[in-house]
Amino acid sequence: MCGIVGYLGPRKASPVLLEGLSKLEYRGYDSAGIAVIEDGKIKVEKCKGRLANLQEKLKKNEFTGSIGIGHTRWATHGEPSNKNSHPHTNESGTIAVVHNGIIENYIVLRDWLTSEGYKFVSDTDTEVIPHLVDYYYKGDLLDAVIKATKKMEGSYAIGVLLKNEPDKIVAVRKDSPLIVGVGENESFIASDIPAVLNYTRDVYLLDDNEYVVMSGEGVTLVDENKNVIDKEIFHVTWDADAAEKGGYDHFMLKEIHEQPKAIKDTLTSRIVKGEKIKLDSITLTKEQLQDVDRIYIVACGTAYHAGVIGKSVIEKLAKVPVEVDIASEFRYRDPLITEKTLMIVISQSGETADTLAALRLAKKENARVIAVTNVVGSSVSREADDVLYTWAGPEIAVASTKAYVTQLIAMYIIALYLAEMKQSVRESEIKKIKDGLLNLSERAAEVLNNKEIIKKLADKIYEEKDMFFLGRGLDYAVAMEGSLKLKEISYIHSESYAGGELKHGPIALIEDGTVVIALATQEDLFEKMVSNVKEVKTRGAYVFGIAMEEHDYIEKTVDEVIYIPRVMPILAPVLSVIPLQLLSYYVSIKKGCDVDKPRNLAKSVTVE
Ligand code: M6R
Repeated sequence: MCGIVGYLGPRKASPVLLEGLSKLEYRGYDSAGIAVIEDGKIKVEKCKGRLANLQEKLKKNEFTGSIGIGHTRWATHGEPSNKNSHPHTNESGTIAVVHNGIIENYIVLRDWLTSEGYKFVSDTDTEVIPHLVDYYYKGDLLDAVIKATKKMEGSYAIGVLLKNEPDKIVAVRKDSPLIVGVGENESFIASDIPAVLNYTRDVYLLDDNEYVVMSGEGVTLVDENKNVIDKEIFHVTWDADAAEKGGYDHFMLKEIHEQPKAIKDTLTSRIVKGEKIKLDSITLTKEQLQDVDRIYIVACGTAYHAGVIGKSVIEKLAKVPVEVDIASEFRYRDPLITEKTLMIVISQSGETADTLAALRLAKKENARVIAVTNVVGSSVSREADDVLYTWAGPEIAVASTKAYVTQLIAMYIIALYLAEMKQSVRESEIKKIKDGLLNLSERAAEVLNNKEIIKKLADKIYEEKDMFFLGRGLDYAVAMEGSLKLKEISYIHSESYAGGELKHGPIALIEDGTVVIALATQEDLFEKMVSNVKEVKTRGAYVFGIAMEEHDYIEKTVDEVIYIPRVMPILAPVLSVIPLQLLSYYVSIKKGCDVDKPRNLAKSVTVE
């Protein structure tokens, strides 16, 4: 995730671009930069860190040109640094590009362009774009951009400036957002509407493969054959604050809805149909893996819950014993760590103090550490031996949602990767799981279309003081996460229990009307779970079930049920957590709580 902007009109471009970028900083703030055409040249200023750093630099070196592009970065390929900051240019500095997305085939393109004599100065995927445009430029920028994009695989929203056509910006999108703002004698491009709202409320919401040509004559939209696209202007009526959340009332709701994309992005280039898993960033060899006698998964909070699923999945597929631990406990319990230990730390922020301390402990004992994190260049990513990034994009709401589902995806990827190396399960089984993973994004979108029943449940239960979440096997791990979500944003006390454990004590708390959320997605445990539900029903509980389609037998036992689409039970947690996230969200709204910034909490816990 990054943010891009562009401006063409009578004003000085630089302040307009900086203001636009300030509205997009939520999309990433690893570096910022702008390029402006001035005195017949493209001038670029860019630097690592927040936008404020760039603003400081530009105070000393003011740009006066009235056409330019800008970028705020959330690093994916290449660490946050000055050289990896956008805009990127061709060697002669006559073409400048800003880009949001990932060019998946950038290595192939870079090799080819290098063989054609092009020189690369950054570690980014983006840098192939100005070189491609340079390669194809024969006097028409639009032609060159169309030809360049035909070579590119992956996702992109790009803005391109060319010195030779100094009154033009060409832009295009595919699988990354881009809007065009249309003002009086001026036009804008941006990754999100708030970046232009101070200047215009009239925008085009671009669809994939639509090209934009902005010039003094106005805005033209064309397809790849240069046929003009007649598109309706969208008039924005929301206030800027709401628009920053993409029209959603809260970041949490926006992030819940971003999950299908986050799942897809995290799988991209890692699980490819018909291919073995290749993880560029994990260099563990087959021989080293043979030596591993134990895996620890260590994390906090929601990331720990992802680890609980990771344990089951890795043991099942890779057949290595796995212990999962809360980082703040692990670090003080004298864990048995040797050179044969493989540790996996999971952390959205990559800065959680206890998780980092556990990682350092393992490193001190010469264990190998894989970090699963969402933040490029974070401490855990720098200190671990290997990194698997979750491509969830910046998560702003304190309650983790999309980071969690991508952590689950990371667990499946690692488990399958180890299983393939060890040949610990049949290839046909691995293939089935991979196919299931590749379909998960669509299934998650289906779950998101089924919110009414959850809203109704929230209306019914929001005044409860205590609740239970029950599940068996993987459902138990999801129950833990559902219970945490409810606690942290709605302040309702809840407990998660393994279905079979209830009768060993906690069932004493069940009385008339006690709300129980019962997860029953695991086929082989379904009957057992139904029995546990009956036990609480007999004692007066109100039970809301979560089951897989076709398991409608559960309707006989529960008061209400929501079905998730049919998937392999091992993959069900990715879907069954979504209704629980939505439930905590709607309960929190109903109670009037601060959804995105719940009391007493912080997004990144950097103290122990
Ligand atoms: O950044 P991390 O993933 O290391 O954070 C771990 C926990 O602090 C975090 O998951 C926390 O539990 C969230 N607020 C849960 O929604």
